[in-house]
Amino acid sequence: MFKPVMDISIFNPQSESGWRLYHLDIYFIIASSFILLLVIGLLIYIALKFRAKPNDAEPKQIKNNKLIEALMIGIPFIMVSFFFYLTIKTMKETEPITHNETPTVEINGRQWWWQVSYPGTSVVTANEIHLPANKKVLLKLTASDVIHDWWVPSFGPKMDMIPGLVNYLWLKIDKPGIYEGACSEFCGKQHSKMRIRVIAQTQENYQKWLTENAKTANIAIDSSLIKGAAIFQKASCAGCHQIRGTMANGNVGPDLTHLASRQTILSGTVKNTTENLYRFIDNPNKIKPGVNMPRFFLQQDSLKALVTYLHSLK
Ligand code: CUA
Repeated sequence: MFKPVMDISIFNPQSESGWRLYHLDIYFIIASSFILLLVIGLLIYIALKFRAKPNDAEPKQIKNNKLIEALMIGIPFIMVSFFFYLTIKTMKETEPITHNETPTVEINGRQWWWQVSYPGTSVVTANEIHLPANKKVLLKLTASDVIHDWWVPSFGPKMDMIPGLVNYLWLKIDKPGIYEGACSEFCGKQHSKMRIRVIAQTQENYQKWLTENAKTANIAIDSSLIKGAAIFQKASCAGCHQIRGTMANGNVGPDLTHLASRQTILSGTVKNTTENLYRFIDNPNKIKPGVNMPRFFLQQDSLKALVTYLHSLK
């Protein structure tokens, strides 16, 4: 299994919105802890101080007290109103109102992977989302099949991805690094393995990555790859997957144009090694139960050639 690079926690904010939500969480935790301690403290105090002793007469009965009643209603009302205000304020600051800007990235939730494309470019990738750090970017979030939910805890807000609906989120990542999250809406068998990996880069490296990935597949004229490329076409991989610059232009599964340049496969759950790719293609349903990819029952040498070809797609 792949080790997370960073703590996945709301207490480890790494973006502008992440910090806003972190502060809101801290206010809530302090306020509720204070109330909890006050109530429990008073309970203990009263239970000890006013304990009934043998032969005690019935204590003095008080019917009503306007001041205490006003305080009992007034104080919680003011507190709840204040936190309601803080919540609305944070929501306004983290969710875009106007959608006139071109989104930096469009993320489409699928069972069970993320299709990632960059409007205005020909870049299409899957699962690993490259973004510039230190720059405000707009995420466009959609879904194709069922409801998924975007959540990278260090970045703050969650956002539902609903078929037929478009949602947006602002994101300004503090510094370059790898950030992890996961789908947060139950979406089927592999929901728990629908991980999100955001690779935040410096503006310069991000542009470099974008330029590299806008290119069509870098297919070397190498005899060792011809067999694998032929199997890719023949075994109907090409019907579901796209490799830009070749005949493969499917849109059912992840784009594989630069597959070898990704660090992970299977929605960020395993390292992108030849062994893992081999094991997955050999029997997809065994590695990822419920997956839409069928088993092709390829001979060992064909499978090896196919994996060699796929891993040449840098
Ligand atoms: Cu996608 Cu849960």
